[in-house]
Order: sequence, then structure tokens, then C-alpha cells
Amino acid sequence: MRWHLSHSRKGSSQRVIFLGILASLVVSVPVGSHGESAKNDTPVRYLPDLKVWVLDTARASYEIGVNERNELQTVYWGEKLSSDHGFSAARSHPEHASFDSSETMTNSEYPGWGGKYYNEPTLKVTLADGDRDLVLKYADQTIRGNTLVIRLRDIQYDLFVNLIYTVFTEEDIIRKQAEIENRTSQVATVESAQSGVWNVPQGEGYRLTYLTGRWAGETQVTREPINPGKKVLESRRGTTSPELNPWFAIDEGGEADEQHGRVWFGALGWSGNWKLTVEDTPPSHQVRVTGGYNDFDFSWPLQPGESLATPAFYGGFTKQGFGEASRLLHRFERSEILPDHAHPRVRPVLYNSWEATTFNVNEEGQKALAEKAAKLGVELFVMDDGWFGKRNNDHAGLGDWYVNPQKFPHGLQPLISFVNSLGMDFGLWFEPEMVNPDSDLYRRHPDWVMNFPGGPRCEARHQLVLNMARDDVKEYIFGVLDKMLSTNDIKYIKWDMNRHFSEPGWPEVPVVEQKEIWVKYVRNVYEIMDRLRAAHPKLEIESCSGGGGRVDLGILERVDEVWTSDNTDAFDRLRIQEGFSFAYAPKIMSDWVTDVPSLNGRSTPLKFRFLVAMQGALGIGANLNKWSTEDFALATRMVSYYKSLRETVQGGDLYRLFSPREGNSTANEYVSRDGKQAALFSFLDSQQSLWPTPTICLRGLEEKALYRISTIDDKLMVPPGIRVAEGVSGSFLMHHGLDLNLRGDYDSTLVILERAE
Ligand code: DGJ
Repeated sequence: MRWHLSHSRKGSSQRVIFLGILASLVVSVPVGSHGESAKNDTPVRYLPDLKVWVLDTARASYEIGVNERNELQTVYWGEKLSSDHGFSAARSHPEHASFDSSETMTNSEYPGWGGKYYNEPTLKVTLADGDRDLVLKYADQTIRGNTLVIRLRDIQYDLFVNLIYTVFTEEDIIRKQAEIENRTSQVATVESAQSGVWNVPQGEGYRLTYLTGRWAGETQVTREPINPGKKVLESRRGTTSPELNPWFAIDEGGEADEQHGRVWFGALGWSGNWKLTVEDTPPSHQVRVTGGYNDFDFSWPLQPGESLATPAFYGGFTKQGFGEASRLLHRFERSEILPDHAHPRVRPVLYNSWEATTFNVNEEGQKALAEKAAKLGVELFVMDDGWFGKRNNDHAGLGDWYVNPQKFPHGLQPLISFVNSLGMDFGLWFEPEMVNPDSDLYRRHPDWVMNFPGGPRCEARHQLVLNMARDDVKEYIFGVLDKMLSTNDIKYIKWDMNRHFSEPGWPEVPVVEQKEIWVKYVRNVYEIMDRLRAAHPKLEIESCSGGGGRVDLGILERVDEVWTSDNTDAFDRLRIQEGFSFAYAPKIMSDWVTDVPSLNGRSTPLKFRFLVAMQGALGIGANLNKWSTEDFALATRMVSYYKSLRETVQGGDLYRLFSPREGNSTANEYVSRDGKQAALFSFLDSQQSLWPTPTICLRGLEEKALYRISTIDDKLMVPPGIRVAEGVSGSFLMHHGLDLNLRGDYDSTLVILERAE
């Protein structure tokens, strides 16, 4: 059983069941009464003499303890401590002055707002009797396998918090979740519910790396020193958002690079309003990151006996720089998060009709594209927007999920059968959470959109947001999608969301519950996806929000890939994809080759566009009707290269060799997990003053192994005496390196290495 309290694969109606699961798991064990500590090769150990728990991964240790005030405290997070003699007990920080309490200077694991605590709290509650003082102390604990549950209780009331820690040994990652239980006899209104806090070792000079952006410019790597005060990364938009992504990395002294340096990193698994507070708290200069539901416009009344589960908050540590931090996350996503984690599948090469036909889809036109796509080696043909209702532009039709009879007089099945006869699967675009005011659905159910009665309903892209928190809306949308999937051979859904919330009112429920809309909306979207997948086990889903606006470890538990950006300009994509790869695996990253000029008006060669797109899940989104014979020949060759190395790209280790943010060349290397294959993608934006591209030293190879080298062109400058076809040592490739003859503007190449047996 996967120990997972999040909303994953469970609906909001399961709240009470969570309580039941925990009740059966948690037995009351006062600290100090344990017998022997477990052996130090187990992922979770309790050291009774010290009253500490050690959570060990392969290369890192996380230590929590109960201090002399019976508070739960972070003791250590960093490189693995290999001996039980190397641990210390939890000890509160001395008070600095009457202004700077010990409580606020001590690294609490889960600080409630109350007492003399002044930093960002993980939990803030108001009880019906008016009491707002929450002081959490240790109550009991349970260890089962790789999971530790620690229960805290308020000093006065029967308000409990279950902290659930799960250790993922090989990936050096720990998951934190919290469940807040109201066992009092009065309503407890939760005003902030965070999943947890990650305290890095006390000190100064830390640097924050995070991902920011906007539509068509997602996942841009951004860096800045952490100074006293708070930096809030958040979304108040109802979904993850392209503006900021719930991922962070912190390094010491700003000195870590791709290969070296201590890096603490983390990510939140939530696709609604989220918040990460990066705090350097004076007076102790303690840097910590608190994460969970955004407390903006948040209020959740817990009736007696009810509980509230927070999203999962993941944290990891490496001393091998940002490159290793990314590789650990990638491995973790592939082996624990993605829907195919138990039985990994390669991502198919897909074709998407959007840029070729926009809303002008019809049976004949799509068949013509499908025929051409199949010849290139495409495996999944996806028809995008425009196939339903009265959808001829973005003014009408959203919500009317029936096939447009003018465009498809015999329904979708003739097209689907044709696509299947060409050896491809069929996928279809939906935007289930949205409605155009000009739609039958809106005319029938104007009350189904989120709104404040009598107030304005702001449109964006001429659409309104359905209140997915409503169970009747959820059931309707599930029913419509389920019927489409049951009556047509659809293997893949592109699930789009093209605007953020406005007027998030929910007039049908009591006022005190209306703010639950932010969380219940997301839970219901998750639930629909989970039920669809359960009812249609072969279904795959792509998450899209006008590009990469909904990418996080919550949605990734139920979608197979993500539309990275509506910006398919290959040069821009180098940066977008680099940022994406800091947090998310290449396998998830959908990249299309499209036509030029791009959104920016830039034209790059087809080879360059292919090589950029081949670094993730390759797709083609061009108008194939306009391609020349030469384009087809090159594309067919590139698709075939991609298929020969996609397991390495999608399932291997990524080494970012040259960043597109520095200099004018980019190089990325992918090494298969068994070490037998490696692929080097190299790009030159613009050559100046005849400067050659820098020598590229590869990484992640075996020093003594021999690698046969092949390339797709003549760009490799073979050093004298080196026989590339026979084998070059890993040591030569990693230390001497390779020189590539990239010239002019937007030049590129691909070098493939196969380990000689
Ligand atoms: C936004 C997506 O990002 C595009 O790929 C396309 O699906 C359009 N929506 C369709 O309206």
C-alpha cells in the first residue's frame, strides 16, 4: 500500500476515512518508553535515549526530535550520518531577549500559531469559543516500514495533527503531509493549513533558485540571495499557474553548480492555490521553507470528528549540485509519482493538430494530416480544439461536449478508425472545467459557474469557470467524459484549462463553507481524472493550461505528460525546457516541432527544431500539408533517431552541460540507467567572431568503458588517432571531451554513444 494521505485518488468524502486509517495505525507510545533502536539500515529509526527519529535515505539523513518542552523539532537535515554516535538530541534555542522568544528561534517541525511563535505558522485555527491559541506538543508516534507518523496535540484542546513522513530511500526524498483532526466538541475553523516546514542548517549566505514565468514563457530559472524576511512563492489563481511553480532549491553560499555543492530542494504536490514561504527569520538567521495550501482566502470549518489533509510536500538533499538534485527528482517522479510508475511505458511520438488547423477541424482535413503523420512514424494522433458544439472560434461551444455534426457528419469513429488503420492511437482535446456563455450548457445551467450572486462574471478568452467544487457539476463532467471514452476509441485526453479563477463564489453552500471552493475544486478535478483512469485503464492524460500552467507533483500523479508551453519557438524552448528539467523529468515534457516563423517571428532550421523537441516527449505540431519532400525526409530520419534513443531520454539521467542562460551554446546529455547508451544534444545560437563552440566534457560515463560514437551529421571533429566507430574511453569523453564544429546561427547536432560490451 502506498502510504499517501493526499487527495490522491481519494475524494473529499473520504475525510473521515483518513481518520480511521490513522487511528488504526497510531498507538500511543510516550517518548522514551521504546526499547531498542532499530538497525541503522532501516529508513526510519527511533533512538530512545536521545528521543529522536532518524529518517535515512541512501545518501542523506533527516533527524527530528522532541525537546525538553515536549515540542517536535528539526534536529538535522543533510549528508547521511552513518553512525548512531553522531546524533544529538533536540534542544530548544535559548531566548535571545524578551522580544525574541525561544519558541520563535527554535526550529519547530510543525509550529501552530500560538504562544510566543512569530514566524510563518504551519497551522492557524479559531475555535468556536473564540480561542485562537494553538500550541502543539508531542503526543505519540508509530513507525511502519518507511513511514513515520507523529501525532501532536494542542496543550489545551483535543486538536490533533498527524504528521506523516515517508522515506524514499533511493531517491533521497522525504514526503511530509499533515492531517488536522478536530476531536473537540466545537467547530474549529482552520485558517492556514500547511503541509510542513523544511529547515535548512542554521547559517547565512543561502541562495534561492525557483521557477517563474508567464504564458508562453514558463519555467524560467531565477536566482537570488536569501536575506532576512520572507519571500512568498504562490498561486492565488485557482491552479498551479505558469507565473510561479511550487518547486524550490536552496544552496549554500550561492556556490553550488550543476555538479558540486550542497543543495536542499523541495516541491509541493498541489494543483490549486499553493504557497511556499521562504523565510530567513531574524534574529536566529534561520532559513526555512513552509509549504501547503495558500492561506489567502482560506477558511475550512472542521466539525467535531472531522479532519483535513494537506497536500504532500517533498524534500530532498544532495551534495552534488543542482544536476543531481534534478536527477533525484526525475527518478522519484518516474518511480513513485507518475501513473505508470509501476510499469513504465515510453511516451509515444505524437502529432497534434492545433497549430496546423486551429478550430478548422473536419474529418477530411484531419485524415489528410493523419496520413502524413503516420508516414513520419507518429504513434498517437491528437485532434485539438474545434471538434465539438458550435466551436468555430474561442467565443462559443465550451461545455457542449458533443461532436459537431457539420464537421464530423458521421461522428468521430470514421476518423478514429482511419487513424487506427494507420497504426496510430487517437487522442482528443477537452477543456472540461470551462464554459462559454455562448453554449447550451451555460444557457441550461448559468448557476454552475463560480459567481457571487448579482455580481459580474469576468470572462477570459470568452469563457467562465465551472464550479467544479459542486458535486453535481463534477458528476456531470465525469459523465460526459466517460461517455465519450466509452463510445469512441480514445486513448488519450489533452485536458486543457485556459484561464484562471475569478469571482470564486459558491452561493449554494453556507457562507462559512464557501471558501472551501479552492480546495474542493481541485480535489474534484483529481477525482474525475482518477475515476476516468480507473474506468478506462488504457487512458493517458496530458495536462495543459495554455501550456505549462498546471505542472506539479499533484497533477503528475494522474497525468502522463504535460504541455510545456504554447511557445514552440525552438530557441526560447531551450530555456523553458531547461527550467522545466530542474524540477520535472524529461519524460513528462511534451515538445512539438512546429512551423516557422514562430510566435516570436524567429525562424530556426528544422533540424534545430527537432533536436530541441527530441529532448523530452517528442511531438509534431506543424502543418504537414505545407512540408516539402526534404522536410519529410529529414523529419522521418529524426523520428527514427528519436525512437532509437527515447528510452535514454525519457528514462535516463540528464546532465545539463551548458546552460542556455550562459553563453551562446547549450548542451544536454542523457545517459541510460543501465549506462549502455548516451545521447549528447548540442546547440549553437549564434556564432560570433569565428569563436568555436567550447569543448564538451561528458558526464555520467564509466571511466574505463569504451563507447562507440555515431552522429547524425558531420559536426563531430574527430581527434587524430581516435577511432569513433571502434570505441572511445569514458575517461577520454569525460576529461578530454569532444569538439563540435557548430557554425553560424541555430546550428545543432546529436551525438550518440553506445557502450561496447
Ligand atoms: C491552449 C493550448 O495550450 C493549445 O495547445 C491548444 O490546445 C489551445 N489551447 C486550444 O484552444
